[in-house]
This record gives sequence, structure tokens and C-alpha cells, in this order.
Amino acid sequence: MAKFPENFLWGGATAANQYEGGWNEGGRGMTSSDVTTGGTNKTPRLVTWRDKDGVAHATPSHGFVLPEGAEYAVLEDYYYPNHKATDFYHHWEEDIELFAEMGFKTFRMSIAWSRLFPTGLEDKPNEEGVEFYRNVFKKLREHNIEPLVTIWHFDTPLYLEQNLGGWNNRELIDLYVHFAETCFREFKGLVKYWLTFNEINNTIQFVDMMSDVTDDVYQRAYQQLHYQYVASARAVQIGHAIDPENMIGCMICGITNYPLTSDPEDVWATIYKWERNIFYSADVQLKGEYPIYAKRLWDEHNVVLDITDIDLEMLKKGCCDFYSFSYYMSSTVTTHKIDDMMGGNFTMGARNPYLEYSEWGWSTDAKGLEVYCEIMWDRYHKPLMIVENGLGAIDKFEDGTVHDDYRIEYMKKHIEAMHHILDNGVNLIGYTPWGCIDLVSAGTGEMRKRYGMIYVDMDDEGKGTMNRYRKDSFNWYKDVIASNGEKY
Ligand code: BG6
Repeated sequence: MAKFPENFLWGGATAANQYEGGWNEGGRGMTSSDVTTGGTNKTPRLVTWRDKDGVAHATPSHGFVLPEGAEYAVLEDYYYPNHKATDFYHHWEEDIELFAEMGFKTFRMSIAWSRLFPTGLEDKPNEEGVEFYRNVFKKLREHNIEPLVTIWHFDTPLYLEQNLGGWNNRELIDLYVHFAETCFREFKGLVKYWLTFNEINNTIQFVDMMSDVTDDVYQRAYQQLHYQYVASARAVQIGHAIDPENMIGCMICGITNYPLTSDPEDVWATIYKWERNIFYSADVQLKGEYPIYAKRLWDEHNVVLDITDIDLEMLKKGCCDFYSFSYYMSSTVTTHKIDDMMGGNFTMGARNPYLEYSEWGWSTDAKGLEVYCEIMWDRYHKPLMIVENGLGAIDKFEDGTVHDDYRIEYMKKHIEAMHHILDNGVNLIGYTPWGCIDLVSAGTGEMRKRYGMIYVDMDDEGKGTMNRYRKDSFNWYKDVIASNGEKY
């Protein structure tokens, strides 16, 4: 079996909005996660806001559009899990020591846009925010851990969402580029690996998971994506100009889609789903132009986009250097009416009878990862990095640890798949399992959906000491890294 390359980037992944906390400290501005409550697999997360008459509301967050004259609001009767999250803001030194103990070669984190630019409109960054991240990066480097930094991980400053309409507005491109440029300048020499937008394709993938969607919703989604592609392409050019050493990747939510039946309609629906949900974004970000099938996708929903010639030139000049992606599961596609749909709040296709599912309806399918990697390597011929993977599960904390053999089993299967992927000649350069330390779930806002190899004492009511504990998977992963993937 192929060996992992010597410089393979083993590590773990997190994101500011789910991990950092310190939501109202150090000059940080607010983001949408600060006005989003927790939910469960069956009950949606809510966005809280006041209408123009000051009346308080809490509305399911998925697909929410703030009404005219309304304002986002933190309301007294609600709990907001992302406010404290698992408090990297106050535990970063201790956490980095633990990552170092596991032997991490890289650590994926994101920079909270609103910690550098509280409203998103400032010209100069908030120095306290810059200092915080600089200290974190320095500490990582002291331990020879390469920072892998996501510039945008779902956290546009709330001010921009409320007053400019967020990514529906072309002005967001310039504001994001200013933020990205600031990151490249301030952290030059400390950070080399960057991701411009986390799971950029989710904007369209989430629309697919909703029911009764109007063409307007598709119009907005494709337009937002276009602005983000241009923002990403401009950031890539600036990042390369500031430091030619910079390696800047795209980040795709990777799901391997299978037809549920052999009905040709299901097979075609699957092919179109790959195009719309998976290929579309990376085709633009890695090949520098819209693919031929884009027009067909837009026409399907009468989408007409604001795209300028300069935008197209930018896309060409700002191709990403590598393909990074999350991979948790595969999914099925069908045109038939099925009752047994998976995924709780989000519809993730019908149950695949050949796979096992987590409590949150996510399948385990390591073979799907193999297939996915081969397809992407063939299509783009750029290095691949798996920057999220893992099992969200309920952990039982006992005697200062968690015996999480189920998590180890899940990761084992995916590491085995990575051996095959390397064997088959794919240029895979890194693996950073998601939520290497427990953090707040993005989908449900729960703490009980844990991915970590480090347990954090915090529950769904905000009670807990925030103390950190090594789970069984901690020691297991330490051995995996020490043996460079030979022992797993
Ligand atoms: C990805 C996101 O979608 O999956 C992460 O990039 C997220 O932010 C992760 O946390 C797992 O999803 P969830 O809903 O289990 O937190």
C-alpha cells in the first residue's frame, strides 16, 4: 500500500463562529451566528430580530430573509450557543499545546471577519483582533504547526447583512477583498495556506435541500455565488502578489451522490446534482470560467445574472491553487416520492439501505471518499486536501475521558480509503478532521453533536467548566500521526 508523503499535513479543523467565542470582547462586531439560537436535529435553529415596530420575533434560520425595516436582535429569553462556543478566545494557548501533543502538522481555523472589521466597513482593522490572531499563529509556528486559515467561514459581519443585504450586494466584493488583503498583509510570513470561502457551494446545495423553492431563491443564490467567486478570484491574485509563497485553496462541501434507483430519471437527476451542487463552484474557482452547463442550470430557474466583463477577467486570473473539501457522507438522489428522507432539518436524500447512519442521519461511506477524490483529481489536476471529515456523535463523559471507539472506527475507515486514494495516484496533501476539539454544531447549534478528539465540558444550556479532556481518539490519532498513517 502507498505510504503517505513525508510532508503530509495531518491536523484538525475548526471555525471561529463555532469555536472561538468571545463574541463581545476585544472589539469584535456581531455576525449572524450571534443572533442564532440552538436547535436540534428535528427543531430548526432560530434567528432573532425585531420588526420595525420593535416587536420581537424568532424565525427558522434556514432561508431567512430580514424584512424591510427590521433589525437583528439578541433577545433575553433565548440562548445563543455561539456566543461562548467552546471559548478558544480564552483557551488558545492550552488548546494549541494539546494539538501539538497530538502531533498536528497543521491546524485549520478561521478568522472572524468582524473581529478585524466590526461592521465590515472600517478602513483600518481592529488592532486587538489582529494581535489575537498574530499570537495564535506565532504559537502554532513555535510548535511547527502550519496554520491553515479560512478567510470566510459563514460569518459576514451582521452590519453588512442588515444594512447592505449581505452577499446579495455587489459592494460585498470590495469589502471582502479589503478584509482578505488585510489578512494577507498582517499575517505574511506566519500563514501560507489559505481558503477563501468555506463550503462555497452550500449556497446552492442548501437551496436544493429546501422544498417548494421559487425561482427568486435560485436567482439570489446564483447571484451571491457569482459575487463570492469574483471576491475569491481577486483575493487569490492579491494573496499571490503579497506573498508568492501563499497557497490559496477553494473549499467545497463534498458529498458523493448516487442515484437511488436505476430509473434513467434518477440517473440524470444525479448527474445534474453533481453539476449544480459539486462541480459548479470549483469549475469556476479552479478553471477560471463558468462551465458549459451553467447556462442550462440558470435557464432552468430563469436566472439572469449581473456579470461584467471585468468579473470574467478576474475569474480567469484568480484560480485557486488547490482543491480542499469537506467529506462526511454520501447521499442518494431520486425523482420518486420517498418517505424515509435522511438528515433531520436538512433533507439529505433518501436512506441508502446499504449504509449505516448516524443519529443525525448522516451516512458513513468511506468508499465514497475514494471515488470523490479520483473524480476531483482527474477533473482539476490540482492537489487535494480533506479539510473536514468526522463523526458527529453523543459522547459519554466518564472518569475524565470518553471511550469513543465509534469515532475511531469512522476515522479508521477514511484513513484506509486515503491509503487507496494515494495508491491510485491522487495527489492528496492533507487531512484535518472536523471539530478536532468539541465545538458548536453549525447545522443544529448543539453541543451534544460532538466531533472532537478533545472533550470540552460545555452543554446545550451553556453550563460547563470549559475544561478540556483527552478522549480515547486523542491517543489513537496521536499514533496515526506519529506513524505517518501507517498505524491506524
Ligand atoms: C460543514 C461546515 O458543513 O460541516 C462546518 O463547514 C460544520 O462548519 C460541519 O460544523 C459539520 O456540520 P454540523 O452541522 O454537524 O456542525
